[in-house]
Amino acid sequence: MEALDALINRVSCPRLEGPAPTAEQLEQMLQAALRAPDHGALRPWRFIITEDEGLVKLGQLYAAAARADDPTLAEARYEKYANMPLRAPMVITVVAVTREHPKVPVGEQMISAGCAAHAITQAAHALGLGAMWRTGEMAYHPQVEQGLGLREGECIIGYIYLGQRCRERRAPQLESADFVTRWEG
Ligand SMILES: Cc1cc2nc3c(=O)[nH]c(=O)nc-3n(C[C@H](O)[C@H](O)[C@H](O)COP(=O)(O)O)c2cc1C
Repeated sequence: MEALDALINRVSCPRLEGPAPTAEQLEQMLQAALRAPDHGALRPWRFIITEDEGLVKLGQLYAAAARADDPTLAEARYEKYANMPLRAPMVITVVAVTREHPKVPVGEQMISAGCAAHAITQAAHALGLGAMWRTGEMAYHPQVEQGLGLREGECIIGYIYLGQRCRERRAPQLESADFVTRWEG
C-alpha cells in the first residue's frame, strides 16, 4: 500500500478475527514502532506480545482485578472482563518506559511511546491487517500492571488489538480547515 494512502485512510477495526499476524508481519509492525520520534534516543517503550493461551490469562487477570475492586461482581460481569482480550488473536501491550531526564520531560517520553503505538496501527493497516487501540480501566489497574510485570516508571499506553479485518470501514472525512489557523504575528 502506498504510504500516504495508508496514513490518510487508516481506520480502527473493532472486530478482528484470526489468524494472528505472522512473525514477519509482527516484526514489520515492531520496526515501524521503533521509528517513533524519540527525543534523546531514550527508547521509552517496550512491547508485550500476547496470543493464544496468553489472551485467556490476560482476561483472567482483568477479571480478577475487577473482582478485587468489587467482591460482589456478578458472574456475567466477571466473564465480560475475562473475554475482553479474546476480541483479537493478538494483543500488543505498549508500555511507556519513562525516567527522569534533564532535557526530556516524562510527558515527552509518553508521547514517544504513544507514537510507537500509533505506528503499530498504521503498519497494521498498511499490511492489510486490522488494529484497534484500546485502554479502559484495565490499562490503569495496579493489579493488572503488576500481573504484566510493569516496573517503576512504566505505564500502559494501550492495548493494540490485532488480527484480520472482519468488516471494511471507511475513514471519516474531516475538513482540515476546521482544525487549522494561521498565525502571522
Ligand atoms: C489512548 C487511546 C485509548 C483508546 N481507548 C479506547 C477504548 O478503550 N475503547 C475504544 O472503543 N476505543 C478506544 N480508543 C479509540 C479507538 O482506538 C479508535 O481510534 C476510535 O474508535 C476511532 O476509530 P478510528 O481510529 O477508525 O478513527 C482509544 C484511542 C486512543 C488513542
